[in-house]
Amino acid sequence: MDDFAARCAAAAAEAQAAFAAAADAETVERLRIQYLGRNGIESALAAAFAAASPSEKKQFGPAYNHARQAMRQAWEQARQRVSTQAAEEPIDVTLPPRWRRTGSIHPLSRLADDIEAVFTAMGYECVEGPHVELDEYNFGRLNIPADHPARDHQDSLWLADGLRLLRTHTSSVQARVYAEVGEGRRRPPFRCVAIGRVFRNDAIDATHDVSFTQVEGFVVDRDITVAHLVGVLRTMLSAVLDRDDVEIRLRPSYFPFVEPGFEVDVRLLREPPASRLSRWMELLGCGLIHPRVLAAGAAELAEWSGFAFGMGLERLAMLRHHITDIRIFHGGDLRSLRQFA
Ligand code: FA5
Repeated sequence: MDDFAARCAAAAAEAQAAFAAAADAETVERLRIQYLGRNGIESALAAAFAAASPSEKKQFGPAYNHARQAMRQAWEQARQRVSTQAAEEPIDVTLPPRWRRTGSIHPLSRLADDIEAVFTAMGYECVEGPHVELDEYNFGRLNIPADHPARDHQDSLWLADGLRLLRTHTSSVQARVYAEVGEGRRRPPFRCVAIGRVFRNDAIDATHDVSFTQVEGFVVDRDITVAHLVGVLRTMLSAVLDRDDVEIRLRPSYFPFVEPGFEVDVRLLREPPASRLSRWMELLGCGLIHPRVLAAGAAELAEWSGFAFGMGLERLAMLRHHITDIRIFHGGDLRSLRQFA
C-alpha cells in the first residue's frame, strides 16, 4: 500500500494529459472507458483502497479522492470541448447536393388510373380476369365456336396443353362476370370496367404490338341503347384527353359477341395534317351485347340488355401524349419514357 499515493497521483496526471489531447468524441469515449469504466483505472484504485486497513484509509483518503475528482473533471472538460467544436464546425453550403434520380409512373399506368377514376365516378366496378385463359371464356361463351372464322382475326398464342391460351382480348372478363350471375354470385344490373394485358400473334408496326392493354367496359341493365354507349365513350374521351378537337366516328363492324357492332375511330382535328394523329385511328370495338352471350352466363340474363366496348389503351395514350409509335410504351427505353414523367 506504500506507493498508493504515488499511483493515485500518476493516474490523475496521466488521465489529465490524455483527455486534454483528445480531439474528438470517439477518443474521449475510449479514454472514459479506460480510466473511469467498470474495469478501468479508477476501479482498480477503488479496489485497492477498499482493501486497506482503517488507518491506511485515513492516510491515503485525500490522495485517492483527489485522483478520482481530477480524472472525472478531465473527462467532463474534454467532453464539453469536443461537443462545442463539432457544433462550430463550418458547413460548406456551396457543396453540390448528391443527385438522386427518382422514378415516375409509366404513362400507361397513369392513363389506366385516370380511366378507372372516370368510370368509378360513373358507378362502374373495377373487375379483372386471368392472362392465361380457357378457350371457353376467351371464345366459346362469347359466341365464337371452335370453327368460327372470327378466331382467325385474333391470332392467338396457345399453351402446350391446347386448352388454354394467352387471352386475346379483355372480353373474356365479360364472360367470367356473366358466369357469376349463373353461379348466384352476382345480380343484374351492373356496370364494370376491366383493364389488363392481352396477347396476339400480330405483326408489329407503329400501331400494333404483340402484347398490349385493353380497357373493357360493359353495362347490363334495362333498355340499353347505342346512345348510352356513345354518351359514355364521349364522356370518357373528353375526360382523359382534355381537349375539344377530338372527333369520333362509328363504323358498322362485326364482332360475334355484339349486335349491332361498331368500330370507333378517333382523330385530333388540330394536329398538323402530316401527323399520324390527324388521320383516323381505330381506337375500339363496341356494340350492344349479343343476347346469346348474356344467356351463356345465366338464363335470366337473356331478359336484360347491355352494351360493351373494348379499347386499346396504348392507342389512347398515343393520342394523349402525341406519340406516333406504339413501340415506345413497352420498349423499355427510359429516355423516351422520362419525357412523360
Ligand atoms: C376486340 O378485341 C374486341 N374484344 C373489342 C370489343 C369489345 C368489341 C366489346 C365489342 C364489344 P379488336 O380486335 O378490334 O376488338 O381490338 C380492340 C382494340 O384493341 C382495337 O380497336 C385497338 O385499339 C386495340 N388493338 C387491337 N390490336 C392491337 C395491337 N396489335 N396492338 C395494339 N392495339 C391493338
